[in-house]
Amino acid sequence: MTMQTETDSIIQSRTTSSNNTPSKRAMHSSKLMTLFEDQLKDILWVEKELIKSIPRMISLASAVELIEALTTNLEQTKEQISRLAQVFRTIETKPSTDKCEAMAGLIAEATDMLEDCEKGPWCDASIISAAQKIEHYEIATYGTLRELAETMELIDAAKLLEKSLEEEKSADRTLTAIAREFINMDAASIQA
Ligand SMILES: [Fe+2]
Repeated sequence: MTMQTETDSIIQSRTTSSNNTPSKRAMHSSKLMTLFEDQLKDILWVEKELIKSIPRMISLASAVELIEALTTNLEQTKEQISRLAQVFRTIETKPSTDKCEAMAGLIAEATDMLEDCEKGPWCDASIISAAQKIEHYEIATYGTLRELAETMELIDAAKLLEKSLEEEKSADRTLTAIAREFINMDAASIQA
């Protein structure tokens, strides 16, 4: 028996409970579809920027666990980019990007914070702080996109987006665990 995903169960409950929803055709030319496309362009820009930013974080990290987590995150980011290309394909749209000012701000903040970072626990704690803000932005965007896809009954797109959403949530949990187990206590012993 295959495991039922959150997407499967939401779609199942919608199809059994609603009989006054707009037609699929109407939804696909709606304002909601415009929002969906805009958010896809936003997150594609974000993922492409992160391909450039994560290696800098890896080069500044010291804890092996953090280096491993960031390296995994870099690999997942590449997969998420190709997954987004598949999502664009499901709506018969060519993949494109739109600069995300919010993420540009988060990346600029991280760059500033890490500029004079001396390798060690304090720098590792700073990297985690920056990376978790970025993760939370991605979780919010993928969560919204999955929900929009489900509303418009774009089942394949919803499943692809859910996969990336789960990866982001898992990356965030991993960073919290690393901070707690290997970094924060050591950073707390460094005098300001
Ligand atoms: Fe990502």
